Amino acid sequence: RRAPLLAPSLLAADFGNLQSETERLAGSAADWLHCDIMDGRFVPNISFGIPVLQAIHRHAKQPLDVHLMIEDPQNYLSAVRDAGARNITVHYEACTHLHRVVQQIKALGCQAGVALNPHTPVWLLEDIAADLDLVLVMSVNPGFGGQSFIPNTLRKVTELKELLVDSGSSALIEIDGGVNIDNAAALVEAGADVLVAGSFVFSSPDPVATLAELRAQVAA
Ligand code: DX5
Ligand code: ZN
Repeated sequence: RRAPLLAPSLLAADFGNLQSETERLAGSAADWLHCDIMDGRFVPNISFGIPVLQAIHRHAKQPLDVHLMIEDPQNYLSAVRDAGARNITVHYEACTHLHRVVQQIKALGCQAGVALNPHTPVWLLEDIAADLDLVLVMSVNPGFGGQSFIPNTLRKVTELKELLVDSGSSALIEIDGGVNIDNAAALVEAGADVLVAGSFVFSSPDPVATLAELRAQVAA
């Protein structure tokens, strides 16, 4: 198997020092920087918005992997792209016209991702899978960092992997929520290509060293 990509979530970083938090990840094992945008509508929490995304982008060396936990994401796609996003992931549950939104993301020159809440079955992606660059499987209910991993997610990853192969999709599988050194290897074994980790990385005394440990744990 391939070594997965690592995407630390800045939601768990020190917002008072976003420049240094972003800069110190430059030489780390992080492949992408995961940015969680929440609107207090789709999820019961508010994180940060486009100006802060832009500020992160100014100091980032890695591509920005933007996870939109917002209603009406179609209204913000070009602003998110202009702020520096490389990947834009919208929620399945937030898009009535998901196919259109996915095409809009691609037309902006970004990689298109769709996120699934823990209760949303993977088979709902059957007719869109081939159009996607990324599927984000939520392994906690979106809205907050630091929650514990929902074990059923492992089975969803296995199912999703099958679905992607069957539909000829080359989309990457990203796992988000409660990822740590204890469940990372099993997730990669099940088919995860990208591991998001927030509190596991940033609540540790040395985030860069923690990322290196995670990298070693899941090395091919
Ligand atoms: C949760 C966010 C996650 C969050 C993960 O709604 O989508 O990206 O930052 O944090 P941890 O790794 O602490 O569960
Ligand atoms: Zn996220």
